[in-house]
Formats: sequence, structure tokens, C-alpha cells
Amino acid sequence: MIRILGFESSCDETAVSVVAQEENGKLSVLSNVVASQVETHKLYGGVVPEIASRAHTEAISALTYQALEEAGASPADIDAVAVTTHPGLIGALLVAVNFAKSFALSYNIPLYSIDHMRAHIASAFLLPEPPAFPFMAITVSGGHTSLYAVSSPTDYKQIGATRDDAVGEAFDKIGRLLGLFYPAGAAFDALAKEGFCQATGEADPQKAFSLFPKTDFYKDPFFHLPSPALQDGSLDFSFSGLKTAAVNLLHRIDQTGKVFDKAAFAARYTYEAVSAIVKKTEAAFAAYDFPALVLCGGVAANSHLRGALSLLCQKKKKQFFVPPPSLCGDNGAMVAAEGFFAYRYAAPVGSELNASAAD
Ligand code: KG4
Ligand code: ZN
Repeated sequence: MIRILGFESSCDETAVSVVAQEENGKLSVLSNVVASQVETHKLYGGVVPEIASRAHTEAISALTYQALEEAGASPADIDAVAVTTHPGLIGALLVAVNFAKSFALSYNIPLYSIDHMRAHIASAFLLPEPPAFPFMAITVSGGHTSLYAVSSPTDYKQIGATRDDAVGEAFDKIGRLLGLFYPAGAAFDALAKEGFCQATGEADPQKAFSLFPKTDFYKDPFFHLPSPALQDGSLDFSFSGLKTAAVNLLHRIDQTGKVFDKAAFAARYTYEAVSAIVKKTEAAFAAYDFPALVLCGGVAANSHLRGALSLLCQKKKKQFFVPPPSLCGDNGAMVAAEGFFAYRYAAPVGSELNASAAD
């Protein structure tokens, strides 16, 4: 059995996990502890980088020993250390990078540098039935909306991305205007569900989502919102257009005193965001005839997106892989999972290891 200790501190979650690889190659999560700073940042309506760095520093040591204890492992049982080095908030990233570096050097364990977005994709390898290569991946998070053609553990090609805001940010910012607290994603998801079901009179949210364009509310030009799927033949997105249009629409609602149903608005907004992702994923399958799709990242917890992409895969006869919601948000297990590929295919790094904010 090989055990990898994974560290993550790129944004507002300090996370440490021990993941084991059994003789048959399957990964199992032995421990996965997360110290979320959401309650602290909620007061400010978003992540305050300085506060995030300080909170990571306070949490990381105790969290590491908790992860080891829950895994029934001592430092001597750890075969490799994996840490997210990029992308993210530089001050936040540096906390886990420095801690992981000290841990690895003091116990003489090989250390690996991990890309946060690849770690999200690797979370699919924590499923009881993991995907086989090649596959298509879509990463949807607070900072990214990207499509990848993944041919092998070492061949990731980014084939589409957002040119501005990420889908998670688009949910968080408009959620805030609707009175939802940061991070608004989960509450937005629930509000939209109410909107889809009420507008269509259909109790099943997935059916309600499909029927939504037939409703009078969807057809009302006053509530029109643009699609974030760019029409230029690329596989790219632009969520800032959708976000700005929603802000303007909320202003117009304010000015005209139009009767306004928050749940229907959340449904309309979600419909555009999700449909754009489905449309570009379908186009990606036309360009790369890969047999499977991996959906991952914090926004992969969104029930409407999970439902719509699962339906697309059913129609296109593709396998669909999505981690459980608990492994969609930032966590250490996904970093350890990507660590197994690094352990096998990449060279360990030394004390020169640094973090970087950029992709
Ligand atoms: O991957 P993640 O934990 O952090 C980044 O790498 O950014 O993603 C966080 C994002 C936030 O924008 C949050 O609002 C969003 O994931 N999120 C959701 C849901 N749960 C979390 N967005 C939509 N629906 C959800 N159920
Ligand atoms: Zn993330």
C-alpha cells in the first residue's frame, strides 16, 4: 500500500488528507480534513486574502496531525507529500507549500508540486469506479471554467476556458445581490430549483429544467439574459456578460417596480450558465470523440449542472463521472489523488519549491 499526504491552501479552505493506493491500483481516502474559513469571509462578502493566509497558518499544523491520526498513520508511513502550488492566492498557497516542504524535508519523504485544477480532475479517481483515459474534463470553480482533452495522465490539453469571470464567481456575485451569503453557490442552487419547479409546475427538478424554456417566464423579453457560450466557434465562455446583464436587469426591476420573483430569476440565470456549459461540452465531444466526461470543481456540486451534463452524456452515449459534492469543493484528497500521478510520472521537487498565483 502506498500512502500520500495531500495539502491544499489555495483559497479559503485549509485541507489535509491521506489517500492510499491498494494493490489493485484503486485509491481510498483514509482521512480528509478541511478547515473552512467561510464563516470569517462571509462578514466581508468574499475572501480577504490577508485573513485567509493567517487562518491557514493557524490551522495547518493541527490539521495535519489530525489527518494522520484519522488515517491511522504516522509520518513514517507516508510515501509521498503532494501540495497545491498554483493557481490561487499567493499568500494562501505559500502556507501549505512551506508547511509541506518542511514536513517532507524533516521526514525525508519525496515532495510533489500539484496544479490545483488537475487536482480537481483527479478527484474523479477517488470514485469507486474511476474513469479510464482518454476522457474530456470540465472544471468549474470560483476561478475557472475550463474544458480539457485528457489523453493520458501526463497529457492534459486545455481546449476551452472562460475569457473573464468563472461560473462560480458569476453565481457568487449575483447571489450576493439576491441577498444570499458568500459563497452563494449552494443557496443559489436551491433557490433556482424552487424557480424551475414553480415556473413549470413539475416536481422533478431535472424535468423542470428541461421544460423551463417553454414557460411564459422564460419567453418574457424583460427577463432576457444572454448566453455565456461564445458564438465564435471556440470552446470558450464569457460569464461577465451574463453577470453584467443580470446586474442591469436587477437595476431595471428596481427602477420600474416590476413584480419580481427571486426564485424564477435564479432559475433563469442558472439556465443560461448551465446551458452554455452543456453546449460547449457537446461541441468539445464533436471535436474530440472521447468516451467519457469528468465534471469537477466546486460548482460541480450544482444539481442542475450535474443533471444536465448527465443527460447530455446519456444522449451522446458517453460515460459520466462526477465526484460526490463533498469532494467537489477544495480538499486535500484530490491533491493526494493527483499526487499518485506525480509520484509515478513526475520528478520530486526540493527546497526550491515555490508557489505561484498564475495558472
Ligand atoms: O473549487 P472551489 O471549492 O474553489 C475554487 O477553486 O474556486 O469552488 C468554489 C465555488 C464557489 O464559487 C461556490 O459558490 C461554488 O463553488 N459552489 C457552487 C455550489 N457549491 C459550491 N456553485 C453552484 N452550485 C453549488 N451547489
Ligand atoms: Zn478549487
